[in-house]
Amino acid sequence: MATELHETARALVAEGKGILAADESTGTITKRFDSIGLESTEENRRTYRELLFTTPGVEEYISGVILYDETIRQSALDGTPFPKLLAAKGVIPGIKVDEGAKPLAHAEGETITEGLDGLRGRLEEYYGLGARFAKWRATYTITDSLPSEYCIWTNAHALARYAALCQEANIVPIVEPEVLMDGTHTIERAYHVTSRVLFALYTELFDQRVDVAGSLLKPNMVLSGYEASNRAGIDDVADWSLKCFYKHVPAAVPGIVFLSGGQSDKDATAHLNAMNAKGPHPWQLSFSYGRALQAPTLKAWGGKPANVEAGQRAYYHRAKMNSAARTGMYAPELEREAVTA
Ligand code: 13P
Repeated sequence: MATELHETARALVAEGKGILAADESTGTITKRFDSIGLESTEENRRTYRELLFTTPGVEEYISGVILYDETIRQSALDGTPFPKLLAAKGVIPGIKVDEGAKPLAHAEGETITEGLDGLRGRLEEYYGLGARFAKWRATYTITDSLPSEYCIWTNAHALARYAALCQEANIVPIVEPEVLMDGTHTIERAYHVTSRVLFALYTELFDQRVDVAGSLLKPNMVLSGYEASNRAGIDDVADWSLKCFYKHVPAAVPGIVFLSGGQSDKDATAHLNAMNAKGPHPWQLSFSYGRALQAPTLKAWGGKPANVEAGQRAYYHRAKMNSAARTGMYAPELEREAVTA
């Protein structure tokens, strides 16, 4: 049993590969479609996900895809269920199982992620549908006084409960504590907050008997606030992020798969590259990007059938750039390929 979990976790961070997060809830994908003037119907969502999943050759760079409840039940036009289509290409299907960040009682401005009720049964069903890994995202806001210890520890407890249930179901838990980078905070402040969050998370994971070798961490990178006046450059981001993970993430964790969190697609690639260039590290450092893989794809596609191939080329290119960043071999000059491809 443990072996299957360990193998899946390692396969998700295989050399040169990372994860596509395509698990936007209906509300979130509707916002993304709004940006290209496309109506968010079930069929349009299916068509878009088919574009992503059938991109020729992208499996060279993509190890797994995180799906949403609606998507894991959908099929390609030829009738092949999406999880089956992905698995046939050697891409591991995953599933978002949290039910979103809701207001935390007695804690103005803070959230707790819900979705534990009935989770054991849902995991069993998702395994039957082909899911071999899962995701649960908690969020933390930085202000002068937040996040509170209360928010940090209640979310850590819920993340660990989710992770333990996943492992019982032979599903690899990706634990995603996302410290939001909105605000004017300094990179030092982001470092301290991310450190507190990771300390609480690994304390709870160990207390709840989670085998961290059969799990993956999906954290934010340590960045200056997006509205900060003096934002740290690429090299500083890499140094502060690594300092934080070396202190708080056990070496037994096979991989750290970053979220992009609203960074530009190229920044997300450059930061990952800088961290890997300073390796080797005890864990694989990889990506589990949503927006940083999909923003250029959505733009190139624009919801138009004639642009499906253009959308696929944009996605393939970003996946390839992030694959290069897995080994510290990315360089901005490589971006030119996108134009000539
Ligand atoms: P972003 O890369 O757009 O932050 O999305 C990753 C994700 O899965 C957030 O939960």
